[in-house]
Amino acid sequence: MAEALPHFELTPELDARIARAAGHLRRARHAVALTGAGLSVESGIPPFRGPGGLWTKYGEPPMDGYQRFVRDPVAAWQARLNPEKEPWLQGLHETLGRAKPNDGHRALAALEADGVLACTITQNVDDLHSLAGSRRVAEIHGNYKLLRCLECVTRFAEGEIAIDAARLPPRCPRCGGLVKGDTVQFGEPIPADVLRRCFDEVARCDVMLVAGTSATVFPAADLPLEVLRGGGTVIEVNPLPSELTRVASLALQGPGGTVLTRLLDHVRSAARSAAPGAALETPPRATRKGKGAFA
Ligand code: APR
Repeated sequence: MAEALPHFELTPELDARIARAAGHLRRARHAVALTGAGLSVESGIPPFRGPGGLWTKYGEPPMDGYQRFVRDPVAAWQARLNPEKEPWLQGLHETLGRAKPNDGHRALAALEADGVLACTITQNVDDLHSLAGSRRVAEIHGNYKLLRCLECVTRFAEGEIAIDAARLPPRCPRCGGLVKGDTVQFGEPIPADVLRRCFDEVARCDVMLVAGTSATVFPAADLPLEVLRGGGTVIEVNPLPSELTRVASLALQGPGGTVLTRLLDHVRSAARSAAPGAALETPPRATRKGKGAFA
């Protein structure tokens, strides 16, 4: 029986830790966020593992989903066009379609807008970071609203390719390659363009803010470890211990919406109290606006 989420209280001890995390973020040269399904739980989307997880409920899907797609893309597309055959998948797509960003997504978008966060790498396919206003988002597991050509890796919005149930699988209008949903299936290599971007961000990253992931699926789970190997700082936000908690520089135990909003408050109030004229340890990022725009 999966353990329930612990009762959450923003204790003075936790608030002091969040203030410390804010200090790390303000002093960072290149801060990157890494998010997982837990961040979208407060938007009504179930996680995969742990309490209320999809895999906890329905069992993990076959680890060779991608190989099955390549072996028989017609059958895979027929299943995609007839989701009622997989009620949990149909339910998930309906939930994704209804979901709205929550305070956690909004706090990360605000940290990006303030020039504090350089990029958000997400394992989520739900598009909620972009809907919340984040502009620099790397979707390492794809986006459920998009299709992707397996040859030229071009991504298309659903309506951009005519899907004819009598002529499956659909082909790429640019190169004729096989087209599938952009969501990365188990067994599928992460598309080279987004993987390269993630590694580039991590190579520059000195502070990583990790929120809502069990840190069990690679290569995403290796990104914070790479930051630690490079001497950087890793801040974790999670109501429950994860695979990362043991090695994280700072673990903030609580729900993403509340903790990230409090983190934003601390970052902004520190910036305000370090307003021009004050003796500053490091110029607040907000005043080095030009630098913030290095994307
Ligand atoms: N706020 C923050 N974290 C939360 C919250 C919350 N409100 N609720 C739950 N969590 C945490 C859980 O404690 C858990 O550690 O979010 C984490 C969710 O873990 P997973 O369900 O394993 O999700 P994730 O880490 O994103 O999974 C990685 O696995 O199945 C694949 O492709 C899928 O991208 C996914 C990948």
